[in-house]
Amino acid sequence: MHFTCITLFPEFFASPMACALMGKGVDKGIVSFATVNPRDFVTGNYKGVDDRPYGGGPGMVMQLEPLCRAIESIPQPGPVLLLTPRGRPFDQAMARELAAQPALTILCGRYEGVDARLGALHPVIEVSLGDFVLNGGEAAALCLMEAVARLAPGFMGKDESGDDESFSNSLLEYPHYTRPEDHAGHRVPEVLLGGDHGAVKAWRRREALRTTLERRPDLLAAAPLSAEDYAYLRSLEQTPSRRKLGRNLHILHVHSPVRLKEGRTGVASLTTFDIHDIGRVSCCYGVSDVTVVTPLEDQQALAHRVLGHWTIGAGGRVNAHRAQALSRVRVASSLEEALRMVEEAAGRPPRVLTTSALAEAPRRYRKQWPGLVSFAEARRWLEESPVCLLLGAGHGLAPEAMCAAQALLPPIRPLDAYNHLPVRAAATAILDRLLQDAW
Ligand SMILES: C[S@@+](CC[C@H](N)C(=O)[O-])C[C@H]1O[C@@H](n2cnc3c(N)ncnc32)[C@H](O)[C@@H]1O
Repeated sequence: MHFTCITLFPEFFASPMACALMGKGVDKGIVSFATVNPRDFVTGNYKGVDDRPYGGGPGMVMQLEPLCRAIESIPQPGPVLLLTPRGRPFDQAMARELAAQPALTILCGRYEGVDARLGALHPVIEVSLGDFVLNGGEAAALCLMEAVARLAPGFMGKDESGDDESFSNSLLEYPHYTRPEDHAGHRVPEVLLGGDHGAVKAWRRREALRTTLERRPDLLAAAPLSAEDYAYLRSLEQTPSRRKLGRNLHILHVHSPVRLKEGRTGVASLTTFDIHDIGRVSCCYGVSDVTVVTPLEDQQALAHRVLGHWTIGAGGRVNAHRAQALSRVRVASSLEEALRMVEEAAGRPPRVLTTSALAEAPRRYRKQWPGLVSFAEARRWLEESPVCLLLGAGHGLAPEAMCAAQALLPPIRPLDAYNHLPVRAAATAILDRLLQDAW
């Protein structure tokens, strides 16, 4: 595996490429390394490699000519990787792809980065080492080279080491222990001491699954899981974060005040589909409860009749799943009453989060409109406190009810011409974004 780094600071690489496993890899000829300095290709009187950005602004930009000439000077460059925070996020899968190449060239940016026309002149793959900004690409290049080189045959003591590590099968690795068996009362897990290889293997698999569920549930979606793995993960369903997020969420399905077809504010009628479907989706995502809010007594009576039939009545007796889902649905006569019910159940006032299909506040309400919170931030709220999620019936919550909320979630599909979803469909999409499958 041959790496060439195009860098203004070749000295940056001297020690890391000469010590530990990387140094041994170089000594054994498994890895070879060269640098090319764009400064060596500068022409003209001005000996710089950078210039001011067109359009103004702070910082300098690396110029094209020295970079192009540096690339062209490399006899066998292989794929050219341009390190930039704007690039494809680097991960273990990409490390494996790159490890299959005999040579790689890595262009380390400095200043504000490189002139954007480089990609039109040379095929470059833009790569990011993560969502943070470094002073230059050299530190990123070192990480990338190490992750790629260690996958080269012969680099590690045992090549299979690379197959059994974090990310190799979309799981984080199990924990490791070494001597002594007991350190200040902290014992090594018994299973690792017994010499039963099958039991050790099964324990390690379970630990990898548990750790991944707790720390990086996003990885699980791509992990090949057996029926046994699923059974084990299900037995862990009680992991605090997964349970807490749903348990802290209370849905208020508000039928008044809402916007009606003619643009007026008023009361929308109940739809029994909504009661069933929002109840079932909420049950699926472990939401604490759903409150149907309507001030109309006949509508409240209708909701109670539907709920009674499907929980303690004939419907519930023949359909236990439906009874389970609808047993978390309640009825309130106003938003204020519903919020009080949640406060009583949760033991403290909930934060109130609202939803809308609109990407912009109506002009008249711009000043009072609640600020946006991302789904990630709303998840953090759920870690900490009870949260009421307002879903509006009719054409959505009336602006005055919107303005009483503390924050607003982003609309679903705001960039498309049509995003007017039925409330039960919007509830499903919102719950999935908020609570996600793996959480
Ligand atoms: C100060 S940074 C430039 C940041 C750039 N103006 C931006 O905001 O995206 C200088 C150079 O460091 C390297 N760099 C910084 N952060 C990086 C990251 N997360 N991944 C890969 N390279 C990075 C790039 O080569 C970049 O051109």
